[in-house]
Amino acid sequence: MTDTDNAWNHVAAQAQRLKPMHLRELFKGDPRRFERFSRSGAGLTVDFSKEKIDEGAFDALMRLAEAADVAGRRDAMFGGEAINLTEGRAVLHVAARDPDGAYDAPGADEVGAALDRFLAFAEDVRAGRATASDGEPFTDVVSIGIGGSDLGPVMATRALVPCADGPRVHYVSNVDGSHFADVSRGLDPARTLVVVQSKTFTTQETMTNAATARAWLARAVGEAEANAHLAAVSTNLEATADFGVDPARVFGFWDWIGGRYSLWSAIGLPLAIAIGADDFRAFLGGARDMDTHFREAEPGDNLPMLMGLLGVWRRNAMGCASVAVIPYDERLARLPAYLQQLTMESNGKRVTRGGEPVVHDTCPVVWGEPGTNAQHSFFQLLHQGTDVIPVDFLLAADAHETEGDHHAKLTANCLAQSKALAFGKTEDDVRAEMAAGGEAKARIDILAPHRTFPGDRPSTTILYPRLDPATLGALVALYEHKTFVEAAIWDINAFDQWGVELGKALAQSLLPVVKGEAEAGSEDASTAGLLDMLEGMRR
Ligand code: F6P
Repeated sequence: MTDTDNAWNHVAAQAQRLKPMHLRELFKGDPRRFERFSRSGAGLTVDFSKEKIDEGAFDALMRLAEAADVAGRRDAMFGGEAINLTEGRAVLHVAARDPDGAYDAPGADEVGAALDRFLAFAEDVRAGRATASDGEPFTDVVSIGIGGSDLGPVMATRALVPCADGPRVHYVSNVDGSHFADVSRGLDPARTLVVVQSKTFTTQETMTNAATARAWLARAVGEAEANAHLAAVSTNLEATADFGVDPARVFGFWDWIGGRYSLWSAIGLPLAIAIGADDFRAFLGGARDMDTHFREAEPGDNLPMLMGLLGVWRRNAMGCASVAVIPYDERLARLPAYLQQLTMESNGKRVTRGGEPVVHDTCPVVWGEPGTNAQHSFFQLLHQGTDVIPVDFLLAADAHETEGDHHAKLTANCLAQSKALAFGKTEDDVRAEMAAGGEAKARIDILAPHRTFPGDRPSTTILYPRLDPATLGALVALYEHKTFVEAAIWDINAFDQWGVELGKALAQSLLPVVKGEAEAGSEDASTAGLLDMLEGMRR
């Protein structure tokens, strides 16, 4: 039996021991749980005392991290080794946020200059020095991209609204024509800059929307002038030139930055236009602080290490197949969607790095919505449903908006939810409360089971001082590295995404059939039937 097998067995044994123990007991038995099971770093505090662990489980997880050589894998990533084995690439998005760092990858020494260049362009757009075809400033920017070329900038632009003092920035991603139609409605093409964001510059959705946007511009300002309304971010410089983008407005990056890790590179351009170069640099700085913490903090104090291990504990030891992320911060409304790509595209894998079937379940389903809204929709299930769904709560100490007592109420709600999930309300307490309220015994008998909360539902709370650029950078980098740690323990490659290819290829082959330009081939009965029905339904 290998060290890793031993470590996994030890984790499983700890889980068996802890499963029958209610979180209430764990808290009762250890009044110092918060000090024992919370840690701070890079400006964030993570309280995992409401996870179903104790010292024994903690030590077992530390042993697992050691056996899986998470630290060695982390150093290999920062050292520029080609850890994305199936694509033969290094994984160095950390270099993009460290312009003064020295990283070992072709082009890594250009990071500082590339950052200066796209930030200078962002400032030119903001100041009205980079102008539209009529020589006047842009008032609006439409970013066109999808997946990693969209979700990060969308999430961060929403999160950093208080810093957004530049042109209005809008995002279009879906190939559904309604997305561009709805976003462009009300915009003046003569005053709009379209930034096409695509690592490959071949993605169907992005290229379709880009063509529609170009036509929209050309109808308003003329075919030749439309080019003055375009910018592009891509690693495919030939394709951007073919599309008509002036090379002075094309910003590249490197193949060692994966799509879902590209927010820190020129893919962050729309965000930089919204918030400005200084705030963008502060955003990178926050992420860099988390990188330093991840590299230097001892495993037992290392936030990404601990969160990754807890992710494994939730998934493999406690058997939870779903995890909710609930920011008590309206401006983090798109964080769950961003994390869905980050974690599920990275770790939704079924074979190991060596191509063998995995022996442990991998990435859970990640989902969520901001609180307090979520309390009024799906929290019922979190409290009383039949599945235990661990929750990550995120909360700022201070709000940007200081009118009234909104933030106190938001905070009280957030703390109340993790408390209710952990400790619940026993049937005895429900009965006593109802009796004290003068309810008849018969009615108490009927209602008590419905009003009982089992509790024993784990959560982690992440606190930050205020949602500013540096804090957001640290938060996102925390989740990136947490995802890395989980992948290292599951022994999977977090940096490829072959699972998206089949659907893309099938869509390409179905397109001529849908358009009526080709006969349906030997489609399966369902697809053939649906094609027939669509044909019949079309007006
Ligand atoms: O859907 C898969 C994917 O390759 C993502 O990983 C990527 O972020 C997205 O498509 C967009 O790709 P591109 O930036 O090349 O348009």
